[in-house]
Order: sequence, then C-alpha cells, then structure tokens
Amino acid sequence: MSDKTANIGVVGLAVMGSNLARNLASREGNTVAVYNRSHDKTEHLVSTHPEAGFISTSTYEEFAASLSQPRTAIIMVKAGRGTDAVIEELVKVFEPGDIIVDGGNALFTDTIRREKAVRETGINFVGMGVSGGEEGALLGPSIMPGGSDESWVTLGPILKSIAAIAEGEPCVTHIGHDGAGHFVKMVHNGIEYADMQLIAEAYDLIRRGTNKSPAEIADVFAEWNGGELESYLIEITAEVLRQVDADTNKPLVDIILDQAGAKGTGAWTVQTALDLGVPVSGIAEATFARSLSSHAEQRAVSRDLPGPAQALTVDDADSFIEDVRLALFASKIVAYSQGFDEIRAGASAYGWNIDLGAVSKIWRGGCIIRAQFLNRIADAYRDAVELPVLLTAPYFVEALGRAQDAWRRIVSISAAAGLPAPAFSSSLAYYDGLRAERLPAALIQGQRDFFGAHTYKRIDKEGTFHTLWSGDRTEIEAEDTH
Ligand SMILES: NC(=O)c1ccc[n+]([C@@H]2O[C@H](COP(=O)([O-])OP(=O)(O)OC[C@H]3O[C@@H](n4cnc5c(N)ncnc54)[C@H](OP(=O)(O)O)[C@@H]3O)[C@@H](O)[C@H]2O)c1
Repeated sequence: MSDKTANIGVVGLAVMGSNLARNLASREGNTVAVYNRSHDKTEHLVSTHPEAGFISTSTYEEFAASLSQPRTAIIMVKAGRGTDAVIEELVKVFEPGDIIVDGGNALFTDTIRREKAVRETGINFVGMGVSGGEEGALLGPSIMPGGSDESWVTLGPILKSIAAIAEGEPCVTHIGHDGAGHFVKMVHNGIEYADMQLIAEAYDLIRRGTNKSPAEIADVFAEWNGGELESYLIEITAEVLRQVDADTNKPLVDIILDQAGAKGTGAWTVQTALDLGVPVSGIAEATFARSLSSHAEQRAVSRDLPGPAQALTVDDADSFIEDVRLALFASKIVAYSQGFDEIRAGASAYGWNIDLGAVSKIWRGGCIIRAQFLNRIADAYRDAVELPVLLTAPYFVEALGRAQDAWRRIVSISAAAGLPAPAFSSSLAYYDGLRAERLPAALIQGQRDFFGAHTYKRIDKEGTFHTLWSGDRTEIEAEDTH
C-alpha cells in the first residue's frame, strides 16, 4: 500500500464504482482510495488509469488506514445483501464521525434501517441516489444524497465537484435525512418508466398511423427535441430509431425483441405509492406495460382475440403527428405531477423536509429524465411552495388547455383502432378524475356500507352514517369505520 492519504474512498469497482472513482480522482484536491472484493478488479482499474493516482487497497483494514479523517467511503456494489456485507466490514474498521455512503440503488426502507443501525456506532450513514448510468458516473451524474446534516458538511463540496452542471448549478442537493435520497431516486426512476412508455406509445401510434419508417420517425423526434419536449429521452429515441442493424440491414428497432426488462425501481415506486395512497397511475401503467410485454406465452395465446374491424386510418399525417406530440406532452405533465405528489406524500409520512423545486433542478442535468421542462417545475414550486397538485400551476394549466383536445382525440383514436396506449389513456383519466365535480366514489361508499357497514359521510351535514340495509333501510348515525 502507498503511504499517500486519500480524502475519499470507493468500495465496489464494477462499471458504476470505477467510473465514479475516476470522476472523483479527476477533480482538484481529491485523492481516491479504491477497494473491491475481488482484488483483480482493483488492480485492473489502477493499472488502466494511472492518471487517476488511485490508492489501491486489498483489505478493508488497508482501505480504512489509507483514508484521512473523517473517513469518507462511497459504496457502489450490487444493492441488497452486497451492501449489507460491505457496511458490516466498514463498520469494523471505521470510527465515530466517519461517513459511509451507499451510492447503489437501495430501497429507501433498507436505507432507513441501515442508517439507524450504523448511527448507533457513531458512524454517519448516507443513502445516496445516483442517476446517469455509467457515463453520468464518469462525467457528472445527478446526485440525491440523504443522511445527516453533519455528513452533508463534509460530503457536499465533494459531491458538488463531481455532479453534472445544469445552467451553472451542480445537480446535487441534500434531499433530507436517512432514506430521503433513495426515495427521491426511486421516484426519479418511476417517472423515467412513465416517460419512456409515453414516448414508446407516441412512436407506435405514428408508425401505425402514418406508415413512416423508423428513420423518418427519428426525424420527428429530433424536431420535437427542439421544442417544449426537449429532453435526453427524446434525443436518444431519435438515435435508437435511426439505428440500422448490421446483420439484416433492417431498422434495429424491428429486430429487438419486444419484451421490456426492468430492474425493480418502477415496481418499488408503484408499491410505495400504493402504501402511501398516492395515485401514480401513469408510472403504474408504464410498469405494467413492461410486464405485459414480457409475458410471451400469454401474448401468443391471445393474439387471435377479436379486435376492431377498422385499422387506424389517418388522413392528415402532419396534424396527426402534432396531436400525438400534444398527447405526449400532456401525459408527461401528468406523470411528473404524480411523481412529485409521491415525493410530497413520502416526505410527510417519513418526516423529511424536501424542497421539491430543488429536486426538479438537480434533475436538469446528468440523469436520465433530464429535460428543459424541469425548469417549469422549479418555477411552479418557487411561486407556490405548498402547491397541492403540480399540474395546477399556471404554466401547466395553459399547456394542458392547449393539449387536451388533441389528447382526447389520440386516446379515442387508439381505443377505436385497438391499439394499446395505456399510459396516454390512464393519464387522461387521472386528469379528468381530478377535474370532476363529483366522482362515482359516492356509489362505492354506498356499496361498502351495504355489504360491510363501512359507513359514509353526507354532503349536507356533519357526522358519519350507516343505512340499515338488511333492516328497514333507515339511516342511523354511526362510528366512522372507513
Ligand atoms: N448501472 C447503472 O446504470 C446504475 C445506475 C445507477 C445506480 N446503479 C447502482 O450502482 C451500484 C453498482 O452498480 P454496477 O452496475 O456498477 O455494479 P453491480 O453489477 O450492481 O455490482 C457489482 C459490484 O458489487 C460487488 N459486490 C457484490 N456483492 C458483494 C458483496 N457481498 N461484498 C462485496 N462486494 C460485492 C462486486 O464485487 P466483485 O467484483 O467482487 O464481484 C462488484 O464490485 C448498484 O447498486 C446499482 O444498482 C447502477
């Protein structure tokens, strides 16, 4: 081991950890100690990147000894048991006041558990969401750290130096205590699922409606990227659609198997939303659409189910494409509004003080959902910190007003033509549900009272009531049982 001292260390040197370590090492003033369970990975990284000046270590003791105090280590290992195993080892060799950061994709409830356990040793534990994939880790990710205020004092300057920069501001902020960072990263991924599904539905409708080739549709997306939809995901969609398969000379998108994978963060976002009672229907539809796509056997036996007689027919391709663009924009507003709703509900349930405007700003660079549009979200929360529903902010009201006719046309056209557009249509249903003066939830309350004596409230007087359905059907005052 070298006798140099490192101010930060990285444990876990697969693609994310080694890129993050290189990013850290490239910033003025940093010396980075590195450790990986299988030492050959450490040796490989150190030998292929001599310019980084890494301190190579082969045991946790050596790793701890190479760090100046307070010791700060970022763990980038396979989330789950791997993270627990590394924490267990680091706690043995670290001291009170040191900082252990988990930069993997941990479930926020695991982070809450780990923070509590590690805190008892006097060591700080920070759960940190990192977005941007391998390129982001190397060049500048969007970083969502939780953990204590004390850890942020040490970590803040380091993280600001490696984060992406958007409009002059580093894409990192102290999100809140314990699991807040991983919670926000989870919702980021959920929104990413919705955004990707919406883009996929837009592509599918344009292709079927206009018979344009993938390369021609790539031009449509490239053009959209110059307007209000400007974002990384729209940009890469054009790239993917333009790609030609070298073996077959066909568009790559036609050669890729149409079964979408998932690593679980979309499902976590939906499961957590269900627990919190937050309707994130766009994210849920996007997650379910991936599951449906991967059920090859069910799809095979269902292929001959009856569909509509008429296929999609479009008279004016340009105005159809503009309708699709507006439907995409409106549905995207819904997805983000639902995601921020979940963060607000999570903050309230777990006691985090999360600045929603700051969250939208750190997503403007480095991460997968980076987009111009996030500035509008930041404006909305700047003007009304307690905004109950993001899509009621003036900018979004104007955009939805402009888009809604097209949105309705696209949802009805796709339903009539038998084309699945689950995220477009559920986003519209959510929007109309929010707008409704009265919802049929009143009937549901009546049904619940009928079969389970679950009681109901009335619109005209205070109190809780039950109808004696199996008796004389008079109404009595009752205890609220929900
Ligand atoms: N890939 C992405 O785009 C992305 C984006 C954001 C966040 N993340 C998160 O970042 C983390 C790292 O991702 P990755 O793709 O670079 O790597 P990964 O494939 O998720 O994990 C491999 C790394 O984990 C280590 N590891 C696994 N179990 C271990 C254990 N029990 N003890 C010690 N080390 C253990 C491996 O060490 P060995 O070499 O010894 O096997 C290796 O360094 C993950 O939590 C991932 O979810 C990934």
